[in-house]
Amino acid sequence: MRKAKRMDSLSSGIFNEMEDRKKEVESRGIRVINLGVGSPDLPPAPHIIDALTSSVREPANYSYPLVGSNRLYQALADWYKNRFNVDLEPDDEMLVLMGSQDGLAHLSMAYIDPGDVALVPDPGYPIYNFSVFMAQGEIYSLPLLAENRFLPDFTTIPEDIANKAKMMFLNYPNNPVAVSADRKFYEQAVEFARNYDILICHDAAYVELAFDGFKPLSFLEAPGAKEVGVEFYSLSKTYNMAGCRIGFAVGNPEVISALKLIKSNIDYGVFCSIQEAGIAALTGPQDYVAETARTYRKRRDILVDGLAKIGWHMPKPNASMFLWAPIPRGFASSKMFAMELLGRSGVIVIPGTAFGRQGEGYVRIALVEDEAVLKEVVRRISHYFNFT
Ligand SMILES: Cc1ncc(COP(=O)(O)O)c(C=O)c1O
Repeated sequence: MRKAKRMDSLSSGIFNEMEDRKKEVESRGIRVINLGVGSPDLPPAPHIIDALTSSVREPANYSYPLVGSNRLYQALADWYKNRFNVDLEPDDEMLVLMGSQDGLAHLSMAYIDPGDVALVPDPGYPIYNFSVFMAQGEIYSLPLLAENRFLPDFTTIPEDIANKAKMMFLNYPNNPVAVSADRKFYEQAVEFARNYDILICHDAAYVELAFDGFKPLSFLEAPGAKEVGVEFYSLSKTYNMAGCRIGFAVGNPEVISALKLIKSNIDYGVFCSIQEAGIAALTGPQDYVAETARTYRKRRDILVDGLAKIGWHMPKPNASMFLWAPIPRGFASSKMFAMELLGRSGVIVIPGTAFGRQGEGYVRIALVEDEAVLKEVVRRISHYFNFT
């Protein structure tokens, strides 16, 4: 059978190599600690699990859901109002998705024709590139550089590219670089999008995982944001519901309607019981969210402070569940360092280049193990590496 040519571009080379190295490490009797995949290890709050379990016993919930439940949309509208003071119309300014990934993957189909340009951050969460690629669009990378606080500099985008661009992906708090955007940045993004008629897709997956009193903004808080874009919000990380697959697109009604049309041709909606769990999450006690953020903050401190003591320095992020760590001196590339770290210490981190060319020189560390394991990570690294 002859596969489509696009399959050639979907190689997961580095991940295969790391998997082989992992097996080799395990064969030496070493327990591998995986700080690679950003999948929450914490459970959802009990009231969320209760809502899901009681709902799955209800036979009526097994028909095709087709559309989002009104109660879910009202819950989300109330949540956005409470958290960000953003008004959203439940009827036409939101769409429930099988995780935000679902919407991010499919939206390009509605806006990108073959050859159209989309602006995509580098490094960036891989679905943005993939989404544009599947729609046969052209990717123009927006470098996220340390000297610009890892924010794209719109003034460096050539005029002809800006004129051609139809879509732009943004993501703050960011995966993988673990920084946040301020109001001024979102205002600049809205102005840029207005000037060049570009649709902004802001990915807010980590907007609730913030520390030290910091409260990340919604892109929709910027005046005029709803005229130029949508935001993707996910229950995966806020409520530890990653496997439940529920997220939302919210904002510009025309864009929501286009995504709805695409999706209605692909699937039949999110399982009703998962929508019930989503209602419980959004309307129930929110102290679990604060507790989850506190857990990530403690983990961040153990790693950042512990590794600094042995001479590996990295910034302390104020949001997200990741560390974006410059590789120590003496290693030629992110990939080489990640392989060495795995081979010697049995610790998996992701080379920055897995997220784009600008990721060279960094690795991403996910805070997805408990404190005792992270202390063990520091011990192992200090045993095998001398950074001083
Ligand atoms: C930046 C970012 N966006 C979107 C997603 C997808 O999340 P969801 O579970 O809502 O599909 C992830 C998941 O890791 C992510 O890191």
